[in-house]
Amino acid sequence: MKRLILLQLAFLLSFYFVNAQEADSIIEKKIDVLIKQMTLDEKVRMCHANSKFSSRGVPRLGIPDLKMSDGPHGVRAEISWATWDYAKWTNDSVIAFPALTCLAATFNPQMAYEYGVALGEEARFRNKDIILAPGVNIYRHPLNGRNFEYMGEDPLLAAQMAVPYIKGVQSIGVAACIKHFALNNQERWRGHINVKVSDRALYEIYLPAFKAACQEGDAWTLMGAYNKYNSQHCSHNDFLLNKVLKKDWGYKGVVMSDWNATHNTLEAANNGLDIEMGTWGKRWDTIFDFSEYYLAKPFEQALLKGEVSEDVLNDKVRRILRLCLKTNMRTDRPIGKIGGEHSIIARNIAREGIVLLKNNNQMLPLDASKTIKIAVIGENAVKPMTPGGGSSELKALYEVSPLDGIQKRFKNAAITYSRGYESPTFAWGKKPELKFNADSLAKAAIEAASKADLVIFVGGLNKNFFQDSEGGDRKSMDLPYNQDSLINEILKVNPNMLMVLLTGNAVSMPWINKVPAIVQAWYIGSEAGNVIADVISGDVNPSGKLPFTFPVKLEDCPAIRNGAISYPGDSINQEYKEGIYVGYRWYLTQKIKPLFPFGYGLSYTTFDIKPATSGIQKVKANETFTIKANITNTGKVKGSEVLQLYVRKPKSVVDRPLRELRAFKKVALEPGQTSTVELSVAAQNLSFYDEKKGSWTLEPGEYLIEVGTSAENILFTNKISVE
Ligand code: GLC
Repeated sequence: MKRLILLQLAFLLSFYFVNAQEADSIIEKKIDVLIKQMTLDEKVRMCHANSKFSSRGVPRLGIPDLKMSDGPHGVRAEISWATWDYAKWTNDSVIAFPALTCLAATFNPQMAYEYGVALGEEARFRNKDIILAPGVNIYRHPLNGRNFEYMGEDPLLAAQMAVPYIKGVQSIGVAACIKHFALNNQERWRGHINVKVSDRALYEIYLPAFKAACQEGDAWTLMGAYNKYNSQHCSHNDFLLNKVLKKDWGYKGVVMSDWNATHNTLEAANNGLDIEMGTWGKRWDTIFDFSEYYLAKPFEQALLKGEVSEDVLNDKVRRILRLCLKTNMRTDRPIGKIGGEHSIIARNIAREGIVLLKNNNQMLPLDASKTIKIAVIGENAVKPMTPGGGSSELKALYEVSPLDGIQKRFKNAAITYSRGYESPTFAWGKKPELKFNADSLAKAAIEAASKADLVIFVGGLNKNFFQDSEGGDRKSMDLPYNQDSLINEILKVNPNMLMVLLTGNAVSMPWINKVPAIVQAWYIGSEAGNVIADVISGDVNPSGKLPFTFPVKLEDCPAIRNGAISYPGDSINQEYKEGIYVGYRWYLTQKIKPLFPFGYGLSYTTFDIKPATSGIQKVKANETFTIKANITNTGKVKGSEVLQLYVRKPKSVVDRPLRELRAFKKVALEPGQTSTVELSVAAQNLSFYDEKKGSWTLEPGEYLIEVGTSAENILFTNKISVE
């Protein structure tokens, strides 16, 4: 009987597999038929934009245009057909989800999947076939204007959070677009800076998240970066696109350029660019015929002259048609929706992403039943954070400000608000203007603080230019607008301060020893105020962990201490001299104490974590090993902890960071509950990139497997021996 069941199962499974392969070959046959029917002009027109955010289909054959939209935190408001102006629609407001730094800080891949599904539904409803997200450029230093859009300093964390996000988006029939490939780790001179980096750092730090996105996430599209690598623009870079992406990784999706990142017809044709987007006309934002694009008439001329073979064109069209058959040529895609339960998803992600950095004498959670006097101070308590920051900005259906959220939740408290400081408001073409007198703002805030039981300072950066925004890097790691001096003045009259930081980057904290409680609240979108109130009131027990290190000072950062050629470069070239020693890989190896380490985050409860694996495991090269731990919630409230598994190899043929993250798992526990957590790692993931061989090498011998709750806080160590 058992044999019969097994035979039946084998038959059904074989049918499934044949089906999957068959489905692929049916799609490829469909594409063959379509390509045969297309004229040269029709094929060339598919390879470039026909508006700011769409590329052309083939109306004659019923192939629709591909419609795209930013961005990683929500569907951007509609842009005009051929200029950067917003189209001023009245029905394109959306839910603003938390920034991807906050998503990464959840260390919870399930949150990433739910994020992707909700974003995909909003993109479908807005009739978009491609959402230009997620960005996974590695956090190399705290000055990069776009770090808030990315997922931190560790390639494994970025990879494991990007893959479910992509799967979620694409489950709705919307293509994700993994960006910006590759080495786009700053905004300064982003359009042309030529990055020089060791092969080992390229393969071990800067490529893994992209590789996972393409191979595990099956991202249907990828966006080339603005900058250069090996003196060739990344959006048409032979090594990155033809060799690494399409040949080595076997990528079958569509490569698009970043907007105005294409500079040369023959390179664009031959070096793996499939769709040219956003090329500017002779002057800024010319409404010019899209036939001037490099992959338009000039490409057609090159084909007709035989400078480029038609096979090159057909491969581009094949990839684009594959994408169309998965998106705009499908009739079974859901309609999608905007709002509704997406608010709950946005709130849950932010609840899990907020990081409690400091909580002296259990100052938090605050007792909302108390009738205390609270002085809320800081422009960030009221400033909308969903607009601004560049292409990821949003027209939100709503945005609950931190002040709104605090007032709603702490009804018994007497709450005053003082702006305290002011950032200049920017309007295109106008001088930045300030409306208030800085001294009187500060005086009023200090006065309010002196009369309160508690000060909640809501400060940080604000996605203004140079303050966490695309197009410009920060000039320092300090808080802007004289916040530090205001904070110090306030502490003199009232030391009972809760600091709530809204940033997408690390900031220096000269006042840190005087502030009893600090919450890192990121940019968390429409539900911001509700989530901040959830956490500081104890309705939610924070469980976020830092996706990047907070160094004490900028000079501690490896990219900064190696001089101008390392950052920002000499305006032509730039050298990543720190190699693989990015983030905690540097600080731990160099024994430079950071303000807060990678993977760090406090909780309102306590956990006891014990090893549940003993002895030295022998592991073959093609095997996976598993480390177990028993974790108990020894506190009074439910909470989640993130167990992190780091690997060390004290004796090695190459230099290695002190430890490297190789697995993590978040576990939620009721008070008193114990759970056994399993952390598994494939031995292959312990390999290093061998520059001499030009491939990965798995070194045999002993490895230390360290389990902890941050890059610094290792609780126990196991050993494995790789044969
Ligand atoms: C921008 C960004 C990219 C964005 C694109 C369209 O310059 O680099 O992330 O998706 O252009 O706005």
